[in-house]
Amino acid sequence: MFRHKRTLAAAFVAASLLTSATAGADDAALVTEIVDAFYKIYGTHPGFRVNHAKGVVAEGSFVATPAASALSRATLFDGRRIPVTVRFSNDGGFPSVPDGAPSNPKGMAVKFHMPGGIDVDMVILAVKFFPVATGEQFRDLLVAISESPADAPKPNKLDQFAASHPTFPASFGSAPTPDSFADQEYHGIDAFIFVDKAGHRQAVRYIMAPEKDVSLTAEEAAKKPPNFLVDDLPQRIAKKPVEFHLKVQLAAPGDQTKDPSQPWPDDRKVVDLGVLTLDKPVADTLEAQKKLLFLPNHLTDGIEISDDRLPVIRSEVYALAFARRAR
Ligand code: HEM
Repeated sequence: MFRHKRTLAAAFVAASLLTSATAGADDAALVTEIVDAFYKIYGTHPGFRVNHAKGVVAEGSFVATPAASALSRATLFDGRRIPVTVRFSNDGGFPSVPDGAPSNPKGMAVKFHMPGGIDVDMVILAVKFFPVATGEQFRDLLVAISESPADAPKPNKLDQFAASHPTFPASFGSAPTPDSFADQEYHGIDAFIFVDKAGHRQAVRYIMAPEKDVSLTAEEAAKKPPNFLVDDLPQRIAKKPVEFHLKVQLAAPGDQTKDPSQPWPDDRKVVDLGVLTLDKPVADTLEAQKKLLFLPNHLTDGIEISDDRLPVIRSEVYALAFARRAR
């Protein structure tokens, strides 16, 4: 039985409170347009997410390093063992897409169950930067996809979008299929601000590093059984716990934090925040994931949103998408 039922209602109420505190009134139309565009592309699949529809859930814990608590005063990083619920997913809104189809980038969503019944969420992707800078541009991308059926004359709307937004093919085009959800590196993409005990502020971007990173070629992926990733995770965990190192890349003075389509240079310092261990498969993973809602702005004291507004827009989108799929 799924352990964290309480997180559903709590997350939903917190989403409304948090997003109303940080979102502009103009966002409502944009958020609805985005969710509608997903339905136009993928159709209606009751009970499933409009994006990242196919996934698998596992449970475990996170223990932070002393370096993490030096960077942020968040309870998450004080070194105690924090239970986690994690959902890995394919990109796109088709619930039965074969795992070896290019439904990439894969996603990883982490819910840290903090003392006192509060959850902190982290929603990350297996690419280093996002295809576009803003929610408006993402809506335009979705509309271009929805208006580019296979039989549309070339160049279609999506070709035109890709030509005018080169970060789109550079980002999503760079995401391979892994041999396991456990063997891929995931990135926070959006910049967040860590605040330490003295009030010092540091912009960071998350990296979830696997023990090994194993990518398949498109040909190898296409030959795999349709559920090879979703089936692999619980089998792998039953044999041996799966571990990731949660890290952050630190912004240098002057690095921009607003645009998630512009990664920071690779030479920026990276700090190991701790080990995330997955050691419990979830029995009825389909039912478990229906009840879960992960919100990128579901944070705690010591971790804040930066001037990148995407986590705010995303949280509104995810909350609306959840309301529709939960109907
Ligand atoms: C404007 C930009 C974006 C939009 C509109 C968007 C939209 C969505 C939607 C509608 C869902 C399904 C939510 C639900 O029903 O619970 C979703 C899920 C997800 N998104 Fe995004 N997304 C955006 C950007 C991103 C970025 C930047 C990341 C990672 C850094 C990301 C990672 C994910 C992941 C991992 C999931 C699956 C969450 C889960 O397992 O429940 N998305 N996205």
